[in-house]
Amino acid sequence: MVVLEVNVLKNAACALLILITLSLPYPFASAQDIPHLEKKGDRFALVVDGKPFLMLGAQIGNSSSWPVSLPNAWVALEAMHVNTVEAPVYWEQVEPVHNTFDFTNVDLLVNQARAHHLRLVLLWFGTWKNGQNHYVPEWMKSDPKIYPREITAYGKLLDVMSPNSAANLEADKHAFTALMHHVREIDGARHTVIMIQVENESGSVGSIRDYSATAQQSFNSEIPADLASALHIRPATWAKAFGADADESFAAYSTAHYIGEVAKAGKAEYPLPMYCNVWIAYPVHALENRDRPSPGQEYPSGGPQQANISIWKAAAPSIDVLAPDFYSDDSALFRKILATYHRADNPVFIPETHFGASFGRYFFYALGSGAIGFSPFGVDRPVTAVATANPEAAVDENRQPNPAENFALFAPMVDEIAQFNLQGKLQTAVEEKGSERQTLHFDEADAIISFGFPQSDGNVPPGTPQLQGRAMVAQLGPLEFLVAGFDASVSFSLSPTPSARNEQIEILRADEGMYIGGNWQMSRILNGDETDRGLNFHHGTQQAVRIRLHKLPLYDQEVRKLRQP
Ligand code: DGJ
Repeated sequence: MVVLEVNVLKNAACALLILITLSLPYPFASAQDIPHLEKKGDRFALVVDGKPFLMLGAQIGNSSSWPVSLPNAWVALEAMHVNTVEAPVYWEQVEPVHNTFDFTNVDLLVNQARAHHLRLVLLWFGTWKNGQNHYVPEWMKSDPKIYPREITAYGKLLDVMSPNSAANLEADKHAFTALMHHVREIDGARHTVIMIQVENESGSVGSIRDYSATAQQSFNSEIPADLASALHIRPATWAKAFGADADESFAAYSTAHYIGEVAKAGKAEYPLPMYCNVWIAYPVHALENRDRPSPGQEYPSGGPQQANISIWKAAAPSIDVLAPDFYSDDSALFRKILATYHRADNPVFIPETHFGASFGRYFFYALGSGAIGFSPFGVDRPVTAVATANPEAAVDENRQPNPAENFALFAPMVDEIAQFNLQGKLQTAVEEKGSERQTLHFDEADAIISFGFPQSDGNVPPGTPQLQGRAMVAQLGPLEFLVAGFDASVSFSLSPTPSARNEQIEILRADEGMYIGGNWQMSRILNGDETDRGLNFHHGTQQAVRIRLHKLPLYDQEVRKLRQP
C-alpha cells in the first residue's frame, strides 16, 4: 500500500517534470544555461555553458556569410586560433519578400561553426549598416512612402531609414523576432550562438538628425519622461534640455529607442546577450581648428558614440553591451576608449579592429581592462584587400600576424584566463615608446616587465621596433603567478611595503607548460639562464610559465648583530 502510494507520487512528479520541461522554450535547457552576462564587482563575464567565456573572436567580411565564401573563411579562422566567429545575417537575404523568411544561410553558419568547433556571434545587418540602410530588403527600399527615409534639414531623402517611423520599427522587429525564434529552435539546446549584434554601427550618415515631419513634431515636444529621470534633468523640450547638443541627442534617443525595441522583441523569443557595435567619434586632427568631429559627417549621428552612452543606456535597456569598434593606430586613444566604455553598466568588448600587426598589443590592453572578447575584422579577406585597406596588415613572411599569435597562445587556457579576469586577478603590460620597463603591482609582489631583447645587465631594455612587447600576469596564490607574453621578460620583486625591508623573495620553481582541458601540464622546469634574469618570452612563444616564489628573511639577525659596530 505504502509502496503503491510512493509510486503514484513518483509518477505524478515525473509527469509534472515532463510537463514543465516541455513547456520550457529551450528543450532540456534552463534559463541559466542560456549564454548570459554575469557581473562581479566591476568585472563582467560572458557565461557560456555555466563557465566564464573569453571570446577570442574574428569577424568575417561583410559578404562572407554565403555558401560560396564560407569555405575560405573557415580556413582563415582556423589559422587564427579563434574560438568564436562573428558573421553577418543579411535582412535582404533573410526576408526577400515581405513576411517570407529564408534562414538557409543562418543554418549553414550554425552547422559549419559546429563542425569547426567554434561559437558564433550573429550580426544583424538590419535597418542600419555603417550608418546607412544598405541591407534593408528591396520591398522596403523601394517604398519610401510606407517605409520612410531619414530626411535632412534641406528635405533630401537619405539612404538611411527614419528611426522615427513606426512602420520601419515594426518591420525590423518582425524580421529580427523571426530570426531569434529560428535561432532558439535550431540552437536553444546547443548554444553555438552565444551573442547577437543588433544592427551594425547605427546612426545616420548624411544628417545630424531626422527632419521628417514626425521627427520634427517629437523634437519640438518635451523629452521623454524616462530619459529625463534617467539623466536627472528637468523635463523640457530637446532644445532646452540639451542646448547645442539637442540635434545629436535627439538622434541618439530615437536610434537607441528603436534598436532597444528591436532587441526587446528578439529577447522575448530567445534572450541571448545583445550588443551594439559603435563607429566611434575619432578626435579631429590636431591641426584642424575645431574641437570635435561633426556628427552625421565624420561618424553616424545618434549611434552609441562616447558622448551618447548615457542616452543609449536609458533608451535601450535591452542592449547589454555598447561595444566600440576600433580602427586607429593611436594606442593612447584605444586606452581612452577602453576606459570610456568600461562602466559599471557596460562590459568591455571590442567586436572589431583592423587585422593588423599593431593590434596584437590591443588585445593585451583589452584583456587587462577585463574585456569579455576581442575580435579583428575581415580575417578572411584576400591579403591584397587587407593590405590595400590597411598597409600595416601586410603579413611578414617569417612571422604570424599578431592577432593569430595572441590567440594561438591563449586558446588552450582561455577558460582559466576568463576566470582570472572575472576575479580581477589578471593584469597586462603593453610596450609603449619610452616605457620599455613597466611594473604591475600585486598584493605581495611586483612583476617587472622588460620589453625587447637582448637585455644586457645594467641597461634599459631595448624595446622592439614595432612595439610588439606585451605580457600578462595572473595571480594564482599570494606568491604564485601565471605568466605569458611576447618579446618580454618578467621578473618579480617584493612589493615595497615596510616589512619588505627585512625580507627577500626567490623562485621556488618555474614550470613552463600550458593548461590542457583544465589541468596544468608542465613540459619542463625552467632554471638557470631561463629564470636568472627573468622569465623570457620571445615572439612566437606558445607556452606559459607558472612561477612559485617565496619569501625569506633578508638577514640572519644574530650574525648581523655580531657584525654591527
Ligand atoms: C566597420 C563595419 O562595422 C564593418 O562592417 C566594416 O564595414 C568595416 N568597418 C570596414 O571594413
